Amino acid sequence: MRVAIVGNGNIYNLAHVYAWQSLKDAEIQATCDIIPERAEKACRGAAAKHYYTNMDDLLSNADIDVIDLCVPTYEHARLSIAALKAGKHVICEKPMARSVESAAEMLKAAEKSGKGLYIGHTRRFDQRWKRIKEGIDSGRIGMPLYIRRCERSWLPFPSNSWYWDFAKSGGVLLDIGIHCVDLVNWFFGSKPSEVFACGKMIRDEAQAKGVHDLATVMLRYEDGKTAFIDVSWAFPKTSAPFYSSLDIIGTGGRIEYSDKNANPMVFAGDRIEFPRYSPLLSASLEAFSDEIREFVACVDSGREPAVTAHDAYDALKIISAAEESVKKGEVIRC
Ligand SMILES: NC(=O)c1ccc[n+]([C@@H]2O[C@H](COP(=O)([O-])OP(=O)(O)OC[C@H]3O[C@@H](n4cnc5c(N)ncnc54)[C@H](O)[C@@H]3O)[C@@H](O)[C@H]2O)c1
Repeated sequence: MRVAIVGNGNIYNLAHVYAWQSLKDAEIQATCDIIPERAEKACRGAAAKHYYTNMDDLLSNADIDVIDLCVPTYEHARLSIAALKAGKHVICEKPMARSVESAAEMLKAAEKSGKGLYIGHTRRFDQRWKRIKEGIDSGRIGMPLYIRRCERSWLPFPSNSWYWDFAKSGGVLLDIGIHCVDLVNWFFGSKPSEVFACGKMIRDEAQAKGVHDLATVMLRYEDGKTAFIDVSWAFPKTSAPFYSSLDIIGTGGRIEYSDKNANPMVFAGDRIEFPRYSPLLSASLEAFSDEIREFVACVDSGREPAVTAHDAYDALKIISAAEESVKKGEVIRC
């Protein structure tokens, strides 16, 4: 599997380059970034053959089978569609796209090209959440009825970062909320029918740019299940930039997880020890390797991945309804 990795910023350097290097049968052929120094440095660091500063220039390279997109959210749809049209398989970071309409175009382009489109919902590959999902499915806590998920962070995005531009990033609701919505849908095995959400602007940059850096979301599922999601980029700055917690109440038991505990998980009464995670990532580094390994295996075999582009599309639709709820102050059907 020969890959070109487009976008050589944070997540490329913190996770994707290592994920690809951990695969035996994969080769990083090219790197690409609109900032030439980043593309060149990434090319040297990954011992790739070429570097590019414009993705269009690499699409005619017949030695590339798959494009891995680590570009900002507002570029996901445009670049995915171009790569699919050029006959490449596409792995694209979450969220699938900035808007539901452009995500629908991505699905159409994938179908038309016959190539794979894989969206990086990394949480699905993290051993913590996989273990919980297996426990739920085996009936260990009966029927899950309520999930409370919290993901908070404090990252030093510069004030001119695209993350602070609502039109480009969708704020914390889209950036982090999409992880939580997908996780809850996966644990429940269903999709919500209604959403209510509120947004707040806490950090100076959020107030200056008019983008929410804290959001709370309530979800009602058709079968009477409910979820509460609490996401933030405004978690007080401490030694670790990430904090997450999870509570699941089932008819026959409960699950509790907190990054703060030494034995972070309580599962139907058992305290479970987990290895510590990188303080610079909200998922384990292994989750990124397992994700890329899964997607590569799916390209090889043509089978559906553990998290499909349709799952990513569903999560985006729910976040889009939550965005509307924040704007209108009303419950929105989704
Ligand atoms: N799965 C996860 O847990 C996770 C974690 C962090 C980020 N992400 C996602 O990864 C994506 C990138 O985030 P980041 O923090 O690495 O951003 P970043 O700004 O640090 O890096 C993006 C890079 O893409 C480059 N770029 C922008 N437009 C380009 C284009 N048209 N062609 C080529 N290069 C281009 C930029 O110059 C930059 O170097 C985002 O969509 C984000 O949501 C996912």
